[in-house]
Amino acid sequence: MLRKLTPLVSFLLFIPMLIEAQQASEYPNDYLSPAFHAGRRAAVREMMPKNTVGIFFASQVRNRNNDVDFQFAQNKNFYYLTGLEEPNSMLLIFKEPVTVLGKTGTEFLFVQPRNPSREMWTGKILGVEGVQELYKLDNVFTHDQFTYTAIDLSKVDSVLTTLYSENIISKYYGRGGSDPLSKMAQLIDSAITGNKKPNASRTIGNILRTLRAIKQPEEITLIAKAASISTEGHNAVMKGIKTGMTEYQAQAIMEYYFKKNGSEYPGYPSINGSAENTCVLHYETNQRLMKDGDLLLSDCAAEYHGYSADVTRTIPVNGKFSPAQKIIYELVLEAQDSAFLLCKSGNASNEPHKAAVRVITRGLTKLGIIATDAELRTYFPHGTSHGLGLDVHDPNPGILQTGAVFTVEPGIYIPPGSKCDKKWWNIGVRIEDDILITDTGYQNLSAGSPRTVAEIEKMAKQKSIFK
Ligand code: GLY
Ligand code: MN
Ligand code: MN
Repeated sequence: MLRKLTPLVSFLLFIPMLIEAQQASEYPNDYLSPAFHAGRRAAVREMMPKNTVGIFFASQVRNRNNDVDFQFAQNKNFYYLTGLEEPNSMLLIFKEPVTVLGKTGTEFLFVQPRNPSREMWTGKILGVEGVQELYKLDNVFTHDQFTYTAIDLSKVDSVLTTLYSENIISKYYGRGGSDPLSKMAQLIDSAITGNKKPNASRTIGNILRTLRAIKQPEEITLIAKAASISTEGHNAVMKGIKTGMTEYQAQAIMEYYFKKNGSEYPGYPSINGSAENTCVLHYETNQRLMKDGDLLLSDCAAEYHGYSADVTRTIPVNGKFSPAQKIIYELVLEAQDSAFLLCKSGNASNEPHKAAVRVITRGLTKLGIIATDAELRTYFPHGTSHGLGLDVHDPNPGILQTGAVFTVEPGIYIPPGSKCDKKWWNIGVRIEDDILITDTGYQNLSAGSPRTVAEIEKMAKQKSIFK
């Protein structure tokens, strides 16, 4: 029966049109803003000790085979601080203002120069003006301008870099190569002498880990979007899966929904393990033909504008859990629910894991699968939580606080040949959700995909173009 729409219902119905409108712009326009990156650089500088410089390198292009390179993936710290997604670039942040190539300031970015003949093959290079315009940075130069005379480290006591391995940056990065980044690294190496060696107790890595562990509102928007896209993929697999499908076909359904919604890549290689493969924690080959009675463990999530979700659902291929599968599944679900209750600001970040361990230890003991607490690790060999953000395994604060985003992902894995009743063999279950700590508790960013046995079995009965 049609009823008059309340203002709230009218607004909710309008949301899909808003999403369409956003997608209708020529290119995505919901990236992190220049102000976000400027704020993060200021926060890094604030935490740097006196008389130091922080050095951040872009990722390098990596060769795949012959003249084909891997798709470029930017270094996440560099992206966090600049937004720039090009190789051969370097950011310097000085604690105190200095003058570099006639410009005085604390931030200096060296980037690739424009190159029309290369751009014809691989697309636009922003160049100095493009970077200044897009990212609102003033002191931008091309990498070939980075010379001995450009660096003045005379007032610097310590050089802070995440790449300072074996005390020689260039050995770690570029291995003495002749590409622009290696050359810049070699110049920095030559300029670093004696007491300018990094301060091990307060490296820039620690500063970045501290900052990245607490997400800013703009980052939370992107993680929430990645999580919501991911749940759409999981729901499509729940509806579309059937006996006789392959693991890679389930992956294809999942990843179609990622791309359809503007996700640039999966956040990590999709894990689609069925039967015995449910027990391989990071199974990525996804080649098996799925049979009646199998479980499928899908640990798959989208990356959106650099931010990854991390979502796992475990579902019966034929749409109905067997009695043994249901018992193990519901034990993992109970562990996850108990862990959620400890997702609160002020709690240590390992509290959710401890809750999951208590539930699973008790449950497996009761089922006669383990005899001692020490055996738990045989069937639950990983932690319950890790931070989530630019990296799928991102920093997590020691004490939970508003803005922390992390996973809650208990699991039980019983491979064939395990020392327990055979009826449990080939049952691997993980349930993984993405949790944001708020002022009032927590929000499950991946709640859009069902977790209970009844809800999953109900969704399996829905229509799908894939079956
Ligand atoms: N997808 C990897 C993990 O759950 O940590
Ligand atoms: Mn995870
Ligand atoms: Mn995962």
